[in-house]
Amino acid sequence: MKGNKNSNKEVASEMFVARSLDETRFWSRIMKEHSLFLRLGFRCEDTQLIAEANQFYHLFEQIERRAHSFTNQTDPEQIRRFNSEVQQAATHIFAFKRKVLGLILTCQLPGANNFPLLVDHVSREANYFRNRLIELNEGKLKPLADAIIKENVFFLRIMADHAKFIGHLLDPSERKLVDMARNFSNDFDELVFQARDLEGMKPHSQTVPLLDQFLDQNRVSVASLRDFKKTARDLIEECKIKSIIHPLLADHVFREADRFLTIIDMFEAHLTGATPHSK
Ligand SMILES: [Fe+2]
Ligand SMILES: [Fe+2]
Repeated sequence: MKGNKNSNKEVASEMFVARSLDETRFWSRIMKEHSLFLRLGFRCEDTQLIAEANQFYHLFEQIERRAHSFTNQTDPEQIRRFNSEVQQAATHIFAFKRKVLGLILTCQLPGANNFPLLVDHVSREANYFRNRLIELNEGKLKPLADAIIKENVFFLRIMADHAKFIGHLLDPSERKLVDMARNFSNDFDELVFQARDLEGMKPHSQTVPLLDQFLDQNRVSVASLRDFKKTARDLIEECKIKSIIHPLLADHVFREADRFLTIIDMFEAHLTGATPHSK
């Protein structure tokens, strides 16, 4: 009995380390790239903001490197400390992004090239990362049904934003692609509303058949958006289309869609499998 208890604890520790490293490796690269995108959108005279963005780039580059230096066998206590440190960094970049949003919305950066929605979007991703780290360190996992709805509301809105950014950063002469991006934007706006409707009907809406259908429907749209982003990324890399999209931004949004798909699949497996209470 005692041995069993210990091994359960070990399994939980291993899962904690593996989940933590997966989150920090993925999101620290994302945060690093946000710093680059923000920097590219500032004006030449915004030297202070450029310097701040560069500092964040180096900070998250370092975090990313450290996250890759740990393994699943690393001491969980060490990972817990690392998570808190990364959470601080995520909190700081969140504050920086909100500050930039404030400057744009009060017209203090005329002529800069970051859309307010893009800055808000990257701040929401920083906030998500920070919350994931807090949840991991506190060992608090939301009930599966709550997690499914909440994560989908978050990611569907992220996907809807991506479609809008792509549509606005493509050259207006790329009429067909702009049209496709607009259709994705409409499709995902609808999915966001559907997800919020389901959220509003909680807890009655949290039945296995409804959640299963919800995941299936979202998966179809996310998979097709992911393929569209992949095609766009390849065309941009090959210099075959006219746009002001940085090739790394195209790859960045593709990776985020791919991550959402992985999360949907994980939820599906938990929903139909035998472990209904963990995420
Ligand atoms: Fe992002
Ligand atoms: Fe994003």
